[in-house]
Amino acid sequence: MTKKILFVCLGNICRSPAAEAVFCKRISSEDKPGKYFVDSAGTGGWHIGRLADSRMRKAALERGVVMESRARQIGLNDFMNFDLILTMDNSNFADVTALSKQAGSSSKADVKPILSFARNTSLTEVPDPYYGGEQGFDDVLDLLEDAIEGLLFDLNSME
Ligand code: 4NP
Repeated sequence: MTKKILFVCLGNICRSPAAEAVFCKRISSEDKPGKYFVDSAGTGGWHIGRLADSRMRKAALERGVVMESRARQIGLNDFMNFDLILTMDNSNFADVTALSKQAGSSSKADVKPILSFARNTSLTEVPDPYYGGEQGFDDVLDLLEDAIEGLLFDLNSME
């Protein structure tokens, strides 16, 4: 069965679309088509319809990660559609957990901080790079690559 994973941040133009693209690149070579369905969304709606931030796309492309998604806002339907919802920071986690309570018993999604899967950092949150310099975007990618490696290890060991 297809495992459906939704990555969530605040604006859906930096961290979560990067997580989606890193995940897609990481699985592309070895997994059967249809094994995973991944998407990303923001808790906020300010950037709906926009491509990801050009600084994030540039940093990703330098690692061969192509970001093409357009921003959208998380909705209650997502809790029925996705198995796993991975948040970037404590504020996203609190917002998504509150929404999942609204979705009530129709929610099938587990909500977890993405860095709970990372093995090479003591950070528990992916820092928001939006108001910082270029290095922040690279740091986001390092954290996401680490977490997605750990996530795939866990998913594969549950098979
Ligand atoms: P993201 O970063 O949550 O990683 O997409 C942000 C993007 C935009 C804003 C904040 C964070 N903003 O305030 O517009």
